[in-house]
Amino acid sequence: MTDVASSGPEPDDNRPELTNRQGHAVFDNQNQRTVGARGPATLENYQFLEKISHFDRERIPERVVHARGVTTYGYFEAYGKWGDEPISRYTRAKLFQEAGKRTDVAVRFSTVIGGRDSSESARDPRGFAVKFYTEDGNWDLVGNNLGVFFIRDAIKFPDVIHALKPDPVSHEQKPGRIFDFMSQTPESMHMLVNLFSPRGIPADYRHMQGFGVNTYKWVNAEGESVLVKYHWLPKQGVRSMTAEDAANVQAKDLGHATKDLYDAIQRGDHPEWELVVQMMSDDEHPELDFDPLDDTKTWPEQEFPPKPVGRMVLNRVPENYFAENEQASFGTGVLVDGLDFSDDKMLVGRTFSYSDTQRYRVGPNYLQLPVNQAKNAHVATNQRDGQMAYDNGHHGSNPEVNYEPSITGGLREAQYPTHDEQGPEIRGRLTRKRIPRTNDYLQAGQRYLLMEGWEQDDLVTNLVDQLSQCPRAVQERMVWHFLLVENDLGLRVGDGLGISPKDVAGLEPLAGQDLSEDDRKRLARLG
Ligand code: HEM
Repeated sequence: MTDVASSGPEPDDNRPELTNRQGHAVFDNQNQRTVGARGPATLENYQFLEKISHFDRERIPERVVHARGVTTYGYFEAYGKWGDEPISRYTRAKLFQEAGKRTDVAVRFSTVIGGRDSSESARDPRGFAVKFYTEDGNWDLVGNNLGVFFIRDAIKFPDVIHALKPDPVSHEQKPGRIFDFMSQTPESMHMLVNLFSPRGIPADYRHMQGFGVNTYKWVNAEGESVLVKYHWLPKQGVRSMTAEDAANVQAKDLGHATKDLYDAIQRGDHPEWELVVQMMSDDEHPELDFDPLDDTKTWPEQEFPPKPVGRMVLNRVPENYFAENEQASFGTGVLVDGLDFSDDKMLVGRTFSYSDTQRYRVGPNYLQLPVNQAKNAHVATNQRDGQMAYDNGHHGSNPEVNYEPSITGGLREAQYPTHDEQGPEIRGRLTRKRIPRTNDYLQAGQRYLLMEGWEQDDLVTNLVDQLSQCPRAVQERMVWHFLLVENDLGLRVGDGLGISPKDVAGLEPLAGQDLSEDDRKRLARLG
């Protein structure tokens, strides 16, 4: 006698039938096959084993940073000019050339430190990653909302992230760990002044700026290069939350920013950003008090006026969050002809890190997935096979000649667009040195002075709140740094912690720390 647990479909049930991935009909999705109703299960239980083992593999590793995020789609529309000049004078990148030319984009906004389901109202930088699907292949511009970064050399990245991430034992994010590291990292001051101001908690993703942060290059048809920085300015305006606002949002909803973005796009209120670019000649700029390759610095707008080069509109949400957001892979090495790297020491490290992590996180064939494919370009490589390779239309179509060069067939090299050399000649001995002109405090102080009164108050409150949870030695060093950033900031934070300038006057500069003339004068005044 058969024990039919599942009674089968009603005669008028028109829903499609359940199958497994092999296309076999599933007659019973409630009971495994066993020897008798109470008997042991057998290993040939294919349907059950497939179901469970696929479930066991549902998760891929989340991103080591920027795990919580949301991808949406839209287009970039070029203005064709840089200020009053044709853009071709500075870059030959095709997507920028013609006014009105549109390029498809995928944009992923994210927080940095929390896990995949963490709060979107955390005080944390926000990621702003744009993938342009151009006719020359993909270009990724992978930036943040604060314009600068904590460190300037990629070798420090795992340390800064370990300090910011929750304690590996208790899983709490601890100010003591964060400021322990920052107190020994003077280049972080500019970022900290931004992060602990209201800008550190954007109201949502639509109301924040984006910045490429690192310095890149543009190259024109003559092979002439310039240094550039990219900025996205939201047409919606910039809105932020205080810690109190954020606590209220977080109490009810951990994903308010994703929801806000989806809702806006779905009701036809398409968010828009203008892309503006700052530019300087491709050299060391000894006249500046900072190095143009230092990502802890912004470029003064009076000297390097930001010029609009296009706009971006987001008008579509993904159909499959996992395929289009979790598997989306952005990287700073993904550039098209006419755009290039600079020698920014963060940029080179980032460029290795992104595709390295994606080969591990998503798999070696991550570029075959629809969201990552160069869908508007001609793609033909001699790469073959590997785990989960499926795009054999492109990659297996000429199996006999899957190498190059060949006189019998296969693929040929493309013609170099114009020049294969560009940029200034670089000479130097191999060394491990920080860049000169570190000037860690000046711009942080200028940023503080540019803030409105309520923003300064918020910054001081947030810093005092966090630092009061730190050991005394960390508090003192941070007050010492803030006094060098801007006297008023140092005095106010010190006041909140019960630390006076006299208490920290005896502290020596950190080992190897570079102080400017101005920093030394400020130090001398402490005692
Ligand atoms: C994501 C490394 C600095 C913006 C990531 C990921 C890694 C990484 C491993 C995860 C990528 C993935 O799993 O797909 C690094 C290293 C850095 C660095 C080594 C410094 C040396 C920065 C800076 C910015 C930034 C300075 C901002 C300008 C982002 C963004 C994402 C990201 C936006 C998320 C991309 C996405 O949405 O998938 N980074 N990062 N990173 N990083 Fe960085």
